[in-house]
Amino acid sequence: MNTFIEYQKQIEQALKNKKYGSNPKELYEPIEYIMSLGGKRLRPVLVFAGCGFFDGDVSKALYPALAVELFHNFSLVHDDIMDKAPLRRNKSTVHKKWNDNVAILSGDAMLIKSYQELCKYEGAVLPQLLEIFSDTAVKVCEGQQQDMNYEHIQTVTIGQYLKMIELKTAVLLGGSLKIGALIGGADEKSAQNLYNFGKHIGLAFQLQDDILDVYADAEKFGKQKGGDIAANKKTYLLLKAVEMAEGNRYMKEELHQWINAPHFDEKEKVEAVTAIYNFLNIAELARAEMKKHYSTALTFLNEIPADEIKKQQLINFADSLMVREV
Ligand code: IPE
Ligand code: IPE
Ligand code: MG
Ligand code: MG
Ligand code: MG
Repeated sequence: MNTFIEYQKQIEQALKNKKYGSNPKELYEPIEYIMSLGGKRLRPVLVFAGCGFFDGDVSKALYPALAVELFHNFSLVHDDIMDKAPLRRNKSTVHKKWNDNVAILSGDAMLIKSYQELCKYEGAVLPQLLEIFSDTAVKVCEGQQQDMNYEHIQTVTIGQYLKMIELKTAVLLGGSLKIGALIGGADEKSAQNLYNFGKHIGLAFQLQDDILDVYADAEKFGKQKGGDIAANKKTYLLLKAVEMAEGNRYMKEELHQWINAPHFDEKEKVEAVTAIYNFLNIAELARAEMKKHYSTALTFLNEIPADEIKKQQLINFADSLMVREV
């Protein structure tokens, strides 16, 4: 069986057996809920992948893998409050099913539990793992704050956007691989190359998320369609559309009207902005940007003196992420 599918199965099984607590139920039920809704389990798979890449014993990477998945889910619960998102993995978001306060506190508990999980790792590299984990976690917060700041700023550049998604999304993919690599016995240089590989795959991954927000089959994707457009998120798609509309007075005006409208019908705005994206072929441009980061990712992988078969497995997995629909 494909190693990565096997990793995912092991993680899913371990998560199924996990109990987070029961009392008070308003604190623990949301944790059980969000953790049981599935998802790709990408980040823990990357922890295993990093470990397996260096021929490490992946069973030793289980607690750190669960730690990153808990951290990721914590970030989603809080992200959904901040983004006012109604749907996650095709189900009600925690703040909708319960309320904001429940989502804040159960998210906090998940963050703490992610550290507890990581600390169960018994091995000499634990201090390094904690350092990577904490460095990554604080970067995610920085990126999330930038993401929200940019909702209200009209002059965001593509460069600023790329830095923002590096922080909010990409570093966690890189960090997951690096944690796995260190558990697997990698030297610092190779672990850092794998981190950079993951970071650039992560940039492509968030670009794809932005594309899917507009163009996915919403049922499959499991999130509200066009949420980014409604919230004036400065995605690559929007920034590129603004740039391209510069030479077309009518389109420029229409786009700016939607961005600046204090009140609007959400469906109407999403449809109108999507029509502009379609006209300008924005999704293609976003895919071209994805490919750039994908290629950069490969240059870091090539730097690592490792088995070509192992590299190819990782490339195949990255390829599958580039064409994902969920
Ligand atoms: C969603 O992450 C948040 C982003 C960084 C885009 P995933 O797409 O990995 O979500 P799940 O865990 O599979 O649901
Ligand atoms: C989320 O980015 C990144 C984090 C959760 C840290 P998005 O806001 O685009 O993620 P989704 O689309 O809600 O999953
Ligand atoms: Mg967000
Ligand atoms: Mg969101
Ligand atoms: Mg998104």
